[in-house]
Amino acid sequence: MSKVTIRYTDYFAETMRRMREDGLLLTSVGRDGKPNVMTIGWGTIGSIWGRPVWIVLVRPSRYSYSRLEEVREFTVNVPAADLSEAVALCGKVSGRDRDKFREAKLTILPAREVRPPAIQECVVHYECRTIHFNDLNPDSLPQAILDDAYPQDDFHRIYYGEIVAAYADPNAADRLAPVSSSPLSVM
Ligand SMILES: Cc1cc2nc3c(=O)[nH]c(=O)nc-3n(C[C@H](O)[C@H](O)[C@H](O)COP(=O)(O)O)c2cc1C
Repeated sequence: MSKVTIRYTDYFAETMRRMREDGLLLTSVGRDGKPNVMTIGWGTIGSIWGRPVWIVLVRPSRYSYSRLEEVREFTVNVPAADLSEAVALCGKVSGRDRDKFREAKLTILPAREVRPPAIQECVVHYECRTIHFNDLNPDSLPQAILDDAYPQDDFHRIYYGEIVAAYADPNAADRLAPVSSSPLSVM
């Protein structure tokens, strides 16, 4: 099914909901041209400097971090619920020594504007070019968040990717609709 161009805000609510549920799939590529995919659960879409931007947080320990440092581009792909096993695998295995595309049965879809690929089986796709990054400053985070998220001081680098292309399956709204609750549960 060919993908159709969308506005970057068209599936904001669905994208955020799927990020909170299973997670989204971020792809990157090294200078060697080898793509990688990892699951992300934190991030947001917004408008900064008059540009559409995806903000993602990646820890230096991730293989994806080394890819993002070599090639400052990434894609964010929104999976429907039928990909939850693939998303879980991409969130626990590292691409350093495993081919997650093959293991998770994800098909590489050449991107329109950036070097990392999109993922065919996903529903919504954002192509991003990093225009800024900064390292999280632990001095300005509440202690509760430091204790919760950073027990090993593996502080995220925050990447701001200008969204240079966004597209989706024509039936994206249906594919990303929340699983409807049973009539009994609303009684
Ligand atoms: C639901 C979920 C959300 C995640 N979110 C993030 C994230 O936002 N940033 C991050 O650095 N790691 C996140 N991770 C962990 C990485 O996906 C995981 O460490 C992955 O194996 C890294 O792959 P890589 O080494 O191939 O880059 C998440 C994992 C899961 C399961």
